[in-house]
Amino acid sequence: MIRAAVLGWPVSQSRSPLIHGYWLKQFGIDGDYGRIAIEPGQIDSFLAHFADSGLAGCNVTIPYKEVAARAAGHRQPVVERIGAANTLWLENGVLCADNTDGIGFVSNLDERVPGWDTQGEALVIGAGGAAAAVVDALVERGFMVRVVNRTLSRAEALASRYPGQVSADVLSEANRYAATANFLVNTTSLGMKGDGAVDLDMNVVSCDAVVTDIVYVPLVTPFLEAAAARGLRTVDGLGMLLHQAVPGFTRWFGHRPTVTAELRVLIEADL
Ligand code: ATR
Repeated sequence: MIRAAVLGWPVSQSRSPLIHGYWLKQFGIDGDYGRIAIEPGQIDSFLAHFADSGLAGCNVTIPYKEVAARAAGHRQPVVERIGAANTLWLENGVLCADNTDGIGFVSNLDERVPGWDTQGEALVIGAGGAAAAVVDALVERGFMVRVVNRTLSRAEALASRYPGQVSADVLSEANRYAATANFLVNTTSLGMKGDGAVDLDMNVVSCDAVVTDIVYVPLVTPFLEAAAARGLRTVDGLGMLLHQAVPGFTRWFGHRPTVTAELRVLIEADL
């Protein structure tokens, strides 16, 4: 039996077992995908002895994406660029690391709004771990990216990795950049159940812009609701979660799965 899992602390909230379990059943693979909660003091040792874990590979979630990147003996270029990994596997006994959040992000948009990336200016709200993957993927697609964040220094640190392609400013300047952006994304936790909303005036946004959110609980955040009310094209964050899982499953279980409408319905029912 091939085993994989998601590592985190906590990990009970992860929907990855549901996603991979759906594909395992679909392909009829003798495999298992579980959750492993690892206390902060144990993660270094777990990763150092990964070959003894019985796992073919794993996903890594908060707060271990950075430590996973450091522990790997071989890193995909995207992991080197952003310093965080969400997908690990063994290759000839060497722990290898990838970060599929960015590819999940763009694959979802490719599916939902073909041609979303043909025009060149993006506004990214937030500068945390999720923003790092999103910004990297947008730069790869040729966007000029503006990052606005509550804490300016974090936005500046992110922008400094992509000189000439990414600029940084404070969150209160969001409206200024929103007026010229063709693509807008919220990567902050604002809009999650019970949390505040992103303070941005959708009326300044160009009517052909595409707006997305990486928050998927609720599926329609106040940010997306405001964009839809203005008549803009919107994409919710659930598809990113589904698409980021594809490369890991393919590596561990040897079959390339697809993100079906049925899978989406299954996960939506669990939100
Ligand atoms: P993640 O890995 O999910 O991106 P993170 O690294 O903690 O989590 O980043 C959270 C992001 O949400 C940051 O951009 C954070 O802004 P700061 O860098 O200023 O902390 C943003 N964020 C969280 N709560 C916020 C709030 N109440 N107002 C504005 N931004 C907020």
